[in-house]
Amino acid sequence: METGNLPEGMTLDEDTFLQLRDIIYRESGIFIQEQKKYLLETRLIKRLKALKLNSFKDYMKHLKNGNLNTPEYRYLLDAITINETSFFRNTPQLQAFEKVVFPELVNLARENGRRQIRILSAGCSSGEEPYTLAMILHRRFPTVLQEFQLEIIGFDISQEVLQNALKGEYSQFSIRNVPEEYFKAYFARNGNRFLLKDEIKNMVKFYRANLMDGLQLKRMGVFDLIFCRNVLIYFDKDSKKKAIQNLYNVLHPKGYLFIGHSESLHGVSHAFKLVLFNKAIAYKKE
Ligand SMILES: C[S@@+](CC[C@H](N)C(=O)[O-])C[C@H]1O[C@@H](n2cnc3c(N)ncnc32)[C@H](O)[C@@H]1O
Repeated sequence: METGNLPEGMTLDEDTFLQLRDIIYRESGIFIQEQKKYLLETRLIKRLKALKLNSFKDYMKHLKNGNLNTPEYRYLLDAITINETSFFRNTPQLQAFEKVVFPELVNLARENGRRQIRILSAGCSSGEEPYTLAMILHRRFPTVLQEFQLEIIGFDISQEVLQNALKGEYSQFSIRNVPEEYFKAYFARNGNRFLLKDEIKNMVKFYRANLMDGLQLKRMGVFDLIFCRNVLIYFDKDSKKKAIQNLYNVLHPKGYLFIGHSESLHGVSHAFKLVLFNKAIAYKKE
């Protein structure tokens, strides 16, 4: 939508932009740069129209009556988050997970007499990431799944994407990298939509949670493995530090953390050491 065609009151003036940006930053850690102002404007304009509001200033008044858990904040966060994702995203990381990390975690759990392995997908969007992990484990480690109670949890700040995750219905674009073997085993086609089978859907639990909220994360318990990929890119340094500290607090002392392949903890945290794999890296506690 071209914002130039909108009535005057519907353009996002600088002052209101800064107020909105502060609210979004405070609630989610997401920092909207000046040059992305048009994106915020474009994404929220539909909402203003639906609410029959005439200006962004009126929207601010409407918003200020709430907090993170009121419907308008939920809508705002749905509108501004970038939820791009797909199944089997970044093969080298998934190879490292399958060939090295998961077997190591299983051995460790056996040595410690533990019967449970817990995996977290933080910023899971519409579920492709945790479902990919579930498919790999279901396909490659059937006996381990009998031996251990496996828990895979996905959380996101956007409720809209979580609803899609629960539906488990995907587009061609989303499944474009699914290997044939997995596609045949775990998807059913319905027109131009692809439905994930229940045996995989049932392996993942989803929650709405905020990476910035340390208490909320702690309530989820400790995880052997955390994927938090392509989430930190939307944060400024302070938010990254806070998010990584929150994840550190819920990572098992010998657990692994994967972040996006273009992301780094350089300058964000000294509490982790790098682990190198073939074309992939992960982090462990120092
Ligand atoms: C680009 S997607 C990445 C999805 C998936 N991890 C992947 O790599 O394919 C980023 C997700 O992070 C979520 N997100 C952003 N800020 C968040 C926060 N503070 N707490 C939880 N989730 C957040 C967004 O809603 C979005 O769904």
